[in-house]
Amino acid sequence: MDAVSIRHVIKAYRRGREQVEVLHKLDLSVPEGEFLALMGPSGSGKTTILNLIGGLDRADSGEVVVAGEHLEKLSGGQLAKWRARHIGFVFQFYNLMPMLSAAANVELPLLLTNLSKAERRRHVDVALGVVGLTERAQHKPGELSGGQQQRVGIARAIVTDPSILLCDEPTGDLDRQSADDILHLLQQLNRQQKKTIIMVTHDQKAADYASRTLHVDKGALAEKELA
Ligand SMILES: Nc1ncnc2c1ncn2[C@@H]1O[C@H](COP(=O)(O)OP(=O)(O)OP(=O)(O)O)[C@@H](O)[C@H]1O
Ligand SMILES: [Mg+2]
Repeated sequence: MDAVSIRHVIKAYRRGREQVEVLHKLDLSVPEGEFLALMGPSGSGKTTILNLIGGLDRADSGEVVVAGEHLEKLSGGQLAKWRARHIGFVFQFYNLMPMLSAAANVELPLLLTNLSKAERRRHVDVALGVVGLTERAQHKPGELSGGQQQRVGIARAIVTDPSILLCDEPTGDLDRQSADDILHLLQQLNRQQKKTIIMVTHDQKAADYASRTLHVDKGALAEKELA
């Protein structure tokens, strides 16, 4: 089964009077359980692809099937519910709430579910345990290192137990050692918890952790080796 199946997707953005086509009949299949790296120059459409897969944005035409659902057929409300169940996002700059503790940040996606407070707490404890931050649960983001903040970001992404993780430059703001720790963690989530992971990166060393690398160039994909 494919976790993601994108067929003939066209996506354009309007800039003033100008229409800029970002994805030109894009095809992409990601089997369940794959750890895929997406590389490519700035502006080539990598974030656009992640946003389409995560249902944060819609294709102009073509088909986007993710976790068994045809996203083009879902209403806005259905899409939000679907996303909360199936997708975890990890961002370059963590996107944590500075006033909230690590535990409260991780709990945020659960506030959209009907879990009880005790159940939410149990899920948060598990997620913080997976990323090795149990001891830091009550720290605020500003009291954590970049690598630790990204661990909180990953805990928040997995706390709802989604099948797919979408990571946009998850190590782009980290030093080599912290980056390697985060990549190792993602690899573990892929191998042990069978998460399908799609990771955008500029870093060949990061891509080496993935099981396959695709290069995005001007809105098209190629499975080429870098020279
Ligand atoms: N909301 C938007 N409105 C207009 N143009 C957009 C919008 N989002 C993206 N674009 C344009 O679409 C193209 C692809 O953008 P995208 O963010 O997907 O690139 P990227 O590969 O993620 O780049 P980077 O590596 O810099 O993050 C760019 O030309 C960008 O300017
Ligand atoms: Mg981007």
